[in-house]
Amino acid sequence: MTDKTPLLIDTDPGVDDALALLMAFNDPRHRVVGLTIAAGNVGLRHTVANALKLCEVAGADVPVFAGCEAPLLHPARDAANVHGQDGFGDVGYAPCPRTAEAEHAALAILRLSHQHAGRLLLVALGPLTNVALALKLDPSLPQRIARLVIMGGAVSAHGNITAAAEFNIAFDPEAAHLVFSAFEHFDLADWEATIAHGLPHDEVVRWLQADSPRARFYEAISRQTREWSADRRGDRWHSADALAMAYALEPDGALERLERPVAVELDGRRTRGVTVVDWLRQEGGPDNASLLMRYDQARFEALVRAALAAG
Ligand code: BDR
Ligand code: CA
Repeated sequence: MTDKTPLLIDTDPGVDDALALLMAFNDPRHRVVGLTIAAGNVGLRHTVANALKLCEVAGADVPVFAGCEAPLLHPARDAANVHGQDGFGDVGYAPCPRTAEAEHAALAILRLSHQHAGRLLLVALGPLTNVALALKLDPSLPQRIARLVIMGGAVSAHGNITAAAEFNIAFDPEAAHLVFSAFEHFDLADWEATIAHGLPHDEVVRWLQADSPRARFYEAISRQTREWSADRRGDRWHSADALAMAYALEPDGALERLERPVAVELDGRRTRGVTVVDWLRQEGGPDNASLLMRYDQARFEALVRAALAAG
């Protein structure tokens, strides 16, 4: 028995997912009890292999559960242009000999929610397909989750995969709709918060020089996407899942949050996958989301830096 908070991460690694996972592995107050893997940034074969490899590099003995290969209803395009064809910068790493557990990710979410009922911190860093499927199998899931943190959405519709939508939500809007409707309350770290909390490229380069296997591996797998980002987005690098993980691990680093009703648009010709925030509370829905507006930047950077340097 431990008094560390049990932490379950649903993720689609992904370069920024990898940084978030290193932060979680490095946190003294949380114990990662599983990684449930979604398709998203790239296909499931790669996201599972990447999760296993990252655990190996970090020396993290954490079970990995493969989830859904595709969104619930409609096919979606991946983000290999940002993360590399294999999701980890195409560096040709030696695959990890360990394989994923036999249990499906959605079933693992349900089992772990029972095992850690009332204490489990669930952090979703990818499309919400696995969590939605778990909810369909057992709608009582939210009652056993102590806190749900989601990286997703763009609260004022400054999207990153379409004009108005953010990648994780746009990849599987139906899944996001199910999750946003079923959980009475969740914490949302969106793409616009990510943009407001960029990491200076030159600092990141210095942090990556730390003498640790984690930093060396991360330097390699993130190089392609950091160059891609420096070309397009200037002198700060935006690591969405890392910010969401900071918010998850150290919620008191949040300097401003807003409680609002948030829903997912499913039908729009240009707006499918948009997170619609009812800023003026005009439609009578409950405040289901706590929106992260501002996080302590120094604290965020310290968490990232420590995660990279950890031995
Ligand atoms: C989100 O989309 C993915 O590409 C990232 O891993 C992150 O979870 C940002 O929009
Ligand atoms: Ca992700």
